[in-house]
Amino acid sequence: MSKIVVTGGAGFIGSHIAESLAKDGHEIVIVDNLDPYYSVDIKKKNTDIVLASGDATFINADVTDLDSMKEIIDSTVDYVYHEAAQAGVRISVEDPFKPNNINVVGTLNVLKSSLEADVKKVINASSSSVYGKVKYLPFDEQHPTEPVSPYGVSKLAAEHYCRVFYEVYGLPTTSLRYFTVYGPRMRPDLAISIFTKKMLANEPITVFGDGEQTRDFTYIDDVVEANKKLLNISKTHGKALNIGSGNRISVNDLIENLRLITGSISDIHYANKQKGDTENTLANVSLSKELIEYEPSIEIQIGLKKFVNCFNVGGE
Ligand SMILES: NC(=O)c1ccc[n+]([C@@H]2O[C@H](COP(=O)([O-])OP(=O)(O)OC[C@H]3O[C@@H](n4cnc5c(N)ncnc54)[C@H](O)[C@@H]3O)[C@@H](O)[C@H]2O)c1
Repeated sequence: MSKIVVTGGAGFIGSHIAESLAKDGHEIVIVDNLDPYYSVDIKKKNTDIVLASGDATFINADVTDLDSMKEIIDSTVDYVYHEAAQAGVRISVEDPFKPNNINVVGTLNVLKSSLEADVKKVINASSSSVYGKVKYLPFDEQHPTEPVSPYGVSKLAAEHYCRVFYEVYGLPTTSLRYFTVYGPRMRPDLAISIFTKKMLANEPITVFGDGEQTRDFTYIDDVVEANKKLLNISKTHGKALNIGSGNRISVNDLIENLRLITGSISDIHYANKQKGDTENTLANVSLSKELIEYEPSIEIQIGLKKFVNCFNVGGE
């Protein structure tokens, strides 16, 4: 069994990765500064779930503090899952400095500390936002990267640092480009969370744009499985891989699916498209299938039902 640091382990994706690895018997160290970008209570609950799942500890620390990272990521650490970030496109449009500091400088600190500690691998959470302007769909990993938001720029810079730390210094790294992830404990600022909450209360919902924009939505369990597969695979060093469902639906169809599941009578209001939003996303997951035997298994209709059920019992 390994000692594994999960930065951002109090957040949505990080807490699921940490919980699953703890249940597998690994020693987990969650590193998170409980950033108040969304409810700190949600993050504390997530942390408690991980701590109850096995051999896990929590350290309140900031990835932008190099000294703290060096102290935590020491020679006893085998692997680092780097999930800590200022996520979210819209907030990055309002304030590009915060995502740059956390996502770029923070990643550099984690990489430098991991290199000095001689960790076996750093697995970095990247994003479909690195693609930005669509030249063709589905996005394969060769698709040009031209982000359309400061957030996308910061995730692309972090990815490049991961590649360069492998190519220049020999630190094994892999970046996973997640395509909109959803499921229990998902961030409350994401569309599926917002729609579900409002639809369960029969309150009106607002769609930015005409709702015909399409997204590849990926269920959290598939994302966790992809991350865990990387523990024992060396052929992905220095690479970035797409982690999506390989399917897409429009926001209007997403709402119709949620309407069927919830029975909601919510009205829909359409508002102007938001700055920084990508028009369409769809992952080509051939490379992940080939290199890590990634098999997305949860279709959107099933995933949404699981999510709404959990929401109904207060699991938001
Ligand atoms: N959720 C998605 O759809 C999605 C899609 C693509 C990429 N990602 C990436 O996946 C990762 C996890 O995203 P998430 O949705 O779980 O977000 P999240 O906000 O729920 O989790 C991120 C965690 O990082 C922590 N954090 C923020 N700043 C920090 C700092 N300076 N030091 C230490 N911890 C800090 C936060 O407190 C939070 O708990 C991020 O890197 C994000 O960019 C997410």
